[in-house]
Amino acid sequence: MSDAGRRPFVGGNWKMNGDRGSAATLIRGVLGAIGADPEGIDVAVFPAFPYLLEVGSILSGDQSTVMLGAQDVYHQPNGAFTGEVSVEMLRDCGVSAVLVGHSERRHVIGEDDRTVNRKVLATLNGGMTAVLCIGETLEQREAGETDAVNERQTRLGLAEVSADDMDRVVIAYEPVWAIGTGRTATPEDAQDAHAKIRSVVAGLYNADVAERVRIIYGGSMKPDNAQALMAMPDIDGGLIGGASLKAADFAAIVRAGVGVAS
Ligand code: 13P
Repeated sequence: MSDAGRRPFVGGNWKMNGDRGSAATLIRGVLGAIGADPEGIDVAVFPAFPYLLEVGSILSGDQSTVMLGAQDVYHQPNGAFTGEVSVEMLRDCGVSAVLVGHSERRHVIGEDDRTVNRKVLATLNGGMTAVLCIGETLEQREAGETDAVNERQTRLGLAEVSADDMDRVVIAYEPVWAIGTGRTATPEDAQDAHAKIRSVVAGLYNADVAERVRIIYGGSMKPDNAQALMAMPDIDGGLIGGASLKAADFAAIVRAGVGVAS
């Protein structure tokens, strides 16, 4: 974290894991470990669609400020789009943040930058926070394309997003080779990527927007490396996969975020 006063953001992306019972147990464990109103930090959890209502009802029962997030959305408001879920449907379930363009959506499901951009715009138009995920594959990294990929995904993902709406955008830099592999980017490598992404945002908007936007890191972030990563000046939090499925580990990462911010 820098001195720019950016509030850290830590999200737990539960991906396609668990069941209704374990989702309820996990969110209760998270609230027990971090408290319902974690101070000085934004915390979000992103359960699979079928468990949103269950997790949301536990959060609101606890009057928690932990945000309920969704892992994906479709950009159309309604209609004949079998299997898809709209922004309004998510909002109806209490969702306030949406992951857009996660690498598993890009590389496993096949979403392109245009699709990702439509989803970002729909999420923002619906008044929610969009967590735009970007990051290079191992092949792209080895070909020296890391910065070009991050620039392209940032630029195309944010096309037509207004400077005002950038207050509700979080950029998650998630190098694909670090996701679920136990291989984390070094704090220095991640910092380098984050600083370059911030300068792309400055070029698209202005220095003020770039200073305000939160850029978080994802990819094998764990309790033992979270502090070193988030202490970097341009790393404003984390998007956590595997470690977010254990309440104690996720809480330890949240505490690391609070620690570097204060
Ligand atoms: P892991 O923390 O399991 O590497 O996953 C990161 C991620 O993809 C979060 O969105």
